[in-house]
Amino acid sequence: MKLGRLNHVGVATPSIEKSIAFYRDVMGAEVIREPFDLPAQGVKVCFVDTPNSQIELIEPLGESSPIAGFLAKNPDGGQHHICYEVPDIHAAKTWFEGKGARVLGEPRIGAHGTLIFFVHPRDMGGVLTEIMETPRPGASH
Ligand code: CO
Repeated sequence: MKLGRLNHVGVATPSIEKSIAFYRDVMGAEVIREPFDLPAQGVKVCFVDTPNSQIELIEPLGESSPIAGFLAKNPDGGQHHICYEVPDIHAAKTWFEGKGARVLGEPRIGAHGTLIFFVHPRDMGGVLTEIMETPRPGASH
């Protein structure tokens, strides 16, 4: 596998609304996308564009949200994961598994509408890592 483009940095927050105000007023972000629910992942999502990448704000959606535990430990929110693109999600899954890294679940549709999976932080130098198939031109988000 060849390391692909950094697609986004995932930042957990207890309030997307407050985080939007922060990125707009303190960080000077000029392009902040419309927030949307991603029920399959148990999160509400909002993308903040930077000139070369995006910040993915994630807020818990529902009681059993996978980021509820993270926010219990980090009540003000914090950096949650990093997402890299790959050309072929299934080839990437086979690659990581071949390296002994724990892939968390099967590839599923992520916030950009393409297939993603996560790799366990213990096998990734402490960084929860999202692997995402590169969106095709013209895809949404
Ligand atoms: Co993400």
